[in-house]
Amino acid sequence: MFESKSGILLVGGLGFFLFAFLSNAVVPILLYQDMPEQTVEELASNNQNLLYMFEDLSRRYPDQFEKYYGEANPESLAKALTIGRKVYTGEGCWHCHSQFIRPVSNESERWGKVASSDEYQNELQRPVLWGTRRVGPDLSREGGRRGNDWHAVHFYDPQMLSPTSPMPKYRWFYDDNSPDKPNERGLAMITYVQWLGSWLEQYPDYENYTPLEEQMRNPLE
Ligand code: HEC
Repeated sequence: MFESKSGILLVGGLGFFLFAFLSNAVVPILLYQDMPEQTVEELASNNQNLLYMFEDLSRRYPDQFEKYYGEANPESLAKALTIGRKVYTGEGCWHCHSQFIRPVSNESERWGKVASSDEYQNELQRPVLWGTRRVGPDLSREGGRRGNDWHAVHFYDPQMLSPTSPMPKYRWFYDDNSPDKPNERGLAMITYVQWLGSWLEQYPDYENYTPLEEQMRNPLE
């Protein structure tokens, strides 16, 4: 077998396959199998950033919110997150959006902190939605980057805010075909995108944020 070129290549190929299987499958399983995994309820009960956004949603669309989620509290938040993830998966958002910031190509300059494995250790990441293509921007730091009303308009008609956007219109996220009436899916979808990255101490965009007062004081900067 070792006397022919193809024999050596065969053994080498199988060897590398085995090595990759050990290092990329067996070792991670052994390392992480005992790490506790957070449930959706846990995620919803200890996340002030997100609860704030959820309450904001309940005030902006009070009638719609009450109809589908009642009051804004950790229980209704958990429900919205679960539905939001299902809608995200079902609509195939992951065909165009990744949820994984890599330590290459200065990705952290654009989107914020490089993704780490502990961020994926919870029920809403099963299975992970890393995505394979990036027609649109990475969404793993989307939370807090835009207001709830921005998302409501954007899902209704992305081209209204970004004229050349190839993102589809999601009219079935609304009742009566009206952008100010997000329904159960619409409210869940907005909550889900606000969740992404909300566990970080600071949302990336806020780091460079200059309060309006200061901007007025130094208009040329
Ligand atoms: C055909 C590809 C495509 C699909 C499918 C798609 N998007 Fe997008 N998305 C884009 C592109 C391109 C942009 C950037 C232009 C824009 O803002 O519309 C974008 C922008 C966004 C933004 C704004 C990011 C920011 O802060 O600038 C969010 C949030 C978003 N998409 C969420 C979703 C969700 C949720 C779904 C599924 C319901 C989805 N997208 C489906 C391509 C897509």
